[in-house]
Amino acid sequence: MELSKASAISSATQVGIALGDRSYPILIGPSLLQSSSSWQGLPKATQALIVSNTTVAPLYADALKSALQSLYAQVHVLALPDGEQYKTWETLNLIFDALLSHQCDRKTVLFALGGGVVGDMTGFAAASYMRGVPFVQVPTTLLAQVDSSVGGKTAINHPLGKNMVGAFYQPHRVVCDLSTLKTLPERELSAGLAEIIKYGPIADMDFLAWIEANLSALLQRDPLALSFAVKRSCEIKAHVVGQDERESGVRAILNFGHTFGHAIEAGMGYGAWLHGEAVGCGMVMACELSHRLGLVDAAFVKGLKQVIQTAGLPVVSPILSKEDNAGRYLELMQVDKKTEGGELRFVLIDGPGRAAVRSVDTTLVRQVVDACCA
Ligand code: NAD
Ligand code: GLY
Repeated sequence: MELSKASAISSATQVGIALGDRSYPILIGPSLLQSSSSWQGLPKATQALIVSNTTVAPLYADALKSALQSLYAQVHVLALPDGEQYKTWETLNLIFDALLSHQCDRKTVLFALGGGVVGDMTGFAAASYMRGVPFVQVPTTLLAQVDSSVGGKTAINHPLGKNMVGAFYQPHRVVCDLSTLKTLPERELSAGLAEIIKYGPIADMDFLAWIEANLSALLQRDPLALSFAVKRSCEIKAHVVGQDERESGVRAILNFGHTFGHAIEAGMGYGAWLHGEAVGCGMVMACELSHRLGLVDAAFVKGLKQVIQTAGLPVVSPILSKEDNAGRYLELMQVDKKTEGGELRFVLIDGPGRAAVRSVDTTLVRQVVDACCA
């Protein structure tokens, strides 16, 4: 895949996600917030609620509100506190408070304007308000554009585990306005690259090679490089989710690096490490585990680690306990959603471009934690 292919992409491009009567388009392009065509054909209603946060709302809520005012008689804006540590019941309740205080009916359309935290919480609110109202994902982080806004996973965190309370609930549309990425902090851009890199080893080694060759363009926010990376990531995710919407099988491969990563996020305290940073380190650990099981060679691990590091992400995992670090990782990983009957299961690289979910002996997991931690 050459970058020149990306230049063929017109100002807006579309990826479809095929889920029967829950199918929807993912629109990708610059300045989509302001474009009326981004919003045509959405469910009709009297009211709409834009759910955002205190960082994103001042930047983009006015533009979205203006665009929506021709479609809905009342467009409300709610700015939630910003941060992973606010992905909680209490914050979720602020959405219900707003919906009820505005007397929003069951046709009200919710718009999630922000990163994955806003998207996951708004989706969960939409799934449960009056037993389900329509919602639209308007992701403004790279991570949300390539992953969290697509596929209908919605959730909040529990102190004992990440994303442990939630629902599968598909949006009516995903609108990825690439222009919003201009204001994204560098650290968040790198976090998004982690989820883009993820798609290579699990599904598409050509894409991984393209990412390697275009990492500096991506880090410089080259519009064509970003457009291609978002589109290809959404295509891969849409293909996987289209086969297994509710993760009874293949969808689990999208969690490559997440078992270790979620342990890092919870163990360090939500918000201390960005989700993408934890996933970056988690991928190094899961790849090392795959290597120790004889599934990939050392050169593969080294290569993936190099791409992750060049993307500006940490590759050395943090110590979560001075007493028994590996034990602490194992304890935190027990609450992973892939765990079955107390048996830990990991997404492993089963040869370049292929992933599989397997149970792994805890002795080996301990060795990998010891090898990968600072
Ligand atoms: P985030 O939502 O916390 O956003 C990162 C930061 O960037 C926040 O401070 C936010 O206010 C700010 N921000 C957002 N857009 C901006 C912009 N355009 N300009 C300036 N600042 C901006 O983090 P995230 O990385 O987007 O998402 C992480 C979350 O997504 C985690 O909670 C993770 O569990 C979840 N997630 C969900 C799925 C899923 O399938 N549902 C997949 C992956 C991750
Ligand atoms: N981010 C993993 C999934 O959507 O399944």
